[in-house]
Amino acid sequence: MYDFYSDTKTKPTAAMRKTVLTAEVGDEQEGEDPTTTALCARVADLLGKDGAVFLPSGTMCNEIAIRVHIRPGEEVICERSCHIVNFEGGAPAVLSGAMIKALDGDRGTLQPGQLKSAISTGSRYTPRSRMLCVEQTANMAGGAVWPLDQIRAVCTVAKDAGLATHMDGARLMNAVVQSGRSASEWCAGYDSCWIDFSKGLGAPVGAVLAGSHDFIDHAWAVKQQLGGAMRQSGILAAMCLQGPSRRKTGRRSCISQIHF
Ligand SMILES: Cc1ncc(COP(=O)(O)O)c(C=O)c1O
Repeated sequence: MYDFYSDTKTKPTAAMRKTVLTAEVGDEQEGEDPTTTALCARVADLLGKDGAVFLPSGTMCNEIAIRVHIRPGEEVICERSCHIVNFEGGAPAVLSGAMIKALDGDRGTLQPGQLKSAISTGSRYTPRSRMLCVEQTANMAGGAVWPLDQIRAVCTVAKDAGLATHMDGARLMNAVVQSGRSASEWCAGYDSCWIDFSKGLGAPVGAVLAGSHDFIDHAWAVKQQLGGAMRQSGILAAMCLQGPSRRKTGRRSCISQIHF
């Protein structure tokens, strides 16, 4: 029986389970877990960023990024169907005091002109736009892939207006497979981005958030506040590093294309 309800239903492979037995571990909070450190270095390199931090979930990646990028009362601009609006329990408001400006997009994507008209410089009355959040792929649009020039163009509009830019890359690796473009090409220009190992990558737990050294220092401080700092997390990181098994069918499925 196969359950295709969601890519979150994948279970760790035998190889993933076995790798745990020999994984080197240490105290992650102290930077002493070599397997977690290796995973973070691997993802930072993959996404073309200075550094990365291991987190228990994609939700925590989004919420930490929002907390780092904005101050209470400032505005996050995103497409209306995205995860931070609909599935994170109002956490942007609870954890960061964020205003959300949700725009109607096309299959989860926004146009640069539309973003430009939505950006507010702030006033006594109006919240200041401070951050753009894009979702690649767009989950509620059935996994729609933003075109590369469009995701770059909205990033440029946001940067020109002084906004921080964040990519929810829960399923970024699907876009990599679909497009043949590297993950770092997709993330270029974005201040923060992340991938989720418990989606099509098959691991039971774990997501990695990447950005500049300064961003990661701040992200670590928030991770600590939220109780997301771990101990022997190499047990989990080893399964993420192992990645899904190579399939011998020759079919172009996402899982068979991605090797970590
Ligand atoms: C687009 C998107 N972002 C974020 C998340 C949150 O990830 P997690 O379940 O690891 O918290 C999901 C989960 O399905 C998602 O689809």
